[in-house]
Amino acid sequence: MITFENATKVFADGTTAVEGLSLKVEAGTLTVFVGPSGCGKTTSMRMVNKMVAPTSGRILVGGRDIAGLPAVPHRLGIGYVIQHGGLLPHRTVLDNVAQVLRLRGLRKRVARARAHEAIERVRLRPELIDRYPAQLSGGQQQRVGVARALAADPPILLMDEPFSAVDPVVREELQLEMLRIQSELRKTIILVTHDIDEALRLGDRIAVFAPGGAVQQYADPETVLTRPANAHVHALVGRDQGYRSLAFASADAIPTLPLGPVLAGRIRVGEAWELEVDENGRASAWIDRRGARRAPGSQVPPGGSLRAALEAILTSPAPYGIRGDGSGRPTALIEAADVYRALALRNGSLR
Ligand SMILES: Nc1ncnc2c1ncn2[C@@H]1O[C@H](COP(=O)(O)OP(=O)(O)OP(=O)(O)O)[C@@H](O)[C@H]1O
Ligand SMILES: [Mg+2]
Repeated sequence: MITFENATKVFADGTTAVEGLSLKVEAGTLTVFVGPSGCGKTTSMRMVNKMVAPTSGRILVGGRDIAGLPAVPHRLGIGYVIQHGGLLPHRTVLDNVAQVLRLRGLRKRVARARAHEAIERVRLRPELIDRYPAQLSGGQQQRVGVARALAADPPILLMDEPFSAVDPVVREELQLEMLRIQSELRKTIILVTHDIDEALRLGDRIAVFAPGGAVQQYADPETVLTRPANAHVHALVGRDQGYRSLAFASADAIPTLPLGPVLAGRIRVGEAWELEVDENGRASAWIDRRGARRAPGSQVPPGGSLRAALEAILTSPAPYGIRGDGSGRPTALIEAADVYRALALRNGSLR
């Protein structure tokens, strides 16, 4: 667990970067620091690995005040990922990752073996390990940066805008990868971002910073989104707030229509539609009254959200959304009218 106790940082030139920061990051959880440029996110994060010392207040890691701990051994227990990866340009991918292990005193061969494991964990293509950082794409460099931070298996990970230098598609890939890694490793993570969508997607909790370095709200994503503490937070989450909040509402209560039998690879649905399934039972097309095949649209997975239900309806050519088993096999249908009814109930416009 990481605890900030009324931590303040005033730099020598008089700039107050962080003002009275008090929050706890529970062990095994991911906290996101989000807010506009210059509001003290990086400074706050760097207090944890003693790259910045607070002017007043305390930082505790695992219940111990870190002020008295020597910085170098303290940092060995903390992985650090920075924007653009921060890789050594004249070392190969493998050596970049192995370097932190060498610093910990591991012999070269052992360090390289462990580096291989870390590279596998972030799913970097193995043929890239002998390249130099300049020979990698931005997204690949970020994967190496994450592998390097994870290599020594530190309990704490600090990630400063780790995915901001890549395009939106790669960014989403890396975010999903991060969620997968975290579900396996359960590290205690602080991640800094400007991107509220990234914060909502990745954070167990979100700390919203404002200029002047004061935290405006520290809460789980749903609370930040649906009950912003003040105008600063509202300004950050305001756009598409209603649509985004659907991600936190369950689609389980939407009534479903059972599926009829599969006859010659098709399931009859109402008067006008047939759902085609392939040999593995996965939905492959909607077929309309005239026999035209159309792409089947997205499915609502088990435990899916109202956002997923709405998406299933919006992407379906038929007036039905497909509930699936998570692997593309339909399990039931939901009618568009029932999804809209669930949305209206949630809005309070229908009781
Ligand atoms: N070493 C320093 N000396 C003086 N001022 C500093 C120093 N480091 C940071 N600052 C100032 O402290 C404030 C907070 O900086 P910080 O880097 O923590 O912000 P940030 O929220 O991470 O911003 P960004 O989103 O742009 O990375 C800024 O006004 C910055 O100029
Ligand atoms: Mg920063």
